[in-house]
Amino acid sequence: MAEAIYESVISTGAECVIFDAREFPGIDDICALALGSSTRMKRTLPMVKRLLSELPALNGLPAAAFGSYGWSGEAPDEIADRLKDLGASLIEGKPIKAKDYPSDSILDECRALGTKLASRCQ
Ligand SMILES: Cc1cc2nc3c(=O)[nH]c(=O)nc-3n(C[C@H](O)[C@H](O)[C@H](O)COP(=O)(O)O)c2cc1C
Repeated sequence: MAEAIYESVISTGAECVIFDAREFPGIDDICALALGSSTRMKRTLPMVKRLLSELPALNGLPAAAFGSYGWSGEAPDEIADRLKDLGASLIEGKPIKAKDYPSDSILDECRALGTKLASRCQ
């Protein structure tokens, strides 16, 4: 899902970096943010959860949440809620959720998200 978002952003000519939650580069040099996690034990992955807890106020930063799940799917919603609480401007009404693996239509949604994220950086 991250790769589909990335490729779509890059195709617009904008810059994009895929990062691991343990190596978050910070928000100083970014104009938009997409954060994802699969759901484990009804929760967001611990490293993503830690990142969410360490994020500063996002002051209207365009942002989106995504992730995969098997049956309950809390993680993408949890990410979206936290981004919203931090003051991000959520691009999608709902996070993009893939059941088990992203289908072609979910990947299309990810690509559309990438285009929207890039457009918010112009
Ligand atoms: C140990 C474990 C716990 C899981 N717990 C949940 C859960 O509570 N709710 C849910 O919707 N999916 C759960 N899943 C399913 C995963 O979210 C789903 O398989 C997801 O696609 C895994 O993506 P990943 O391999 O990239 O982490 C769990 C999977 C594993 C292996």
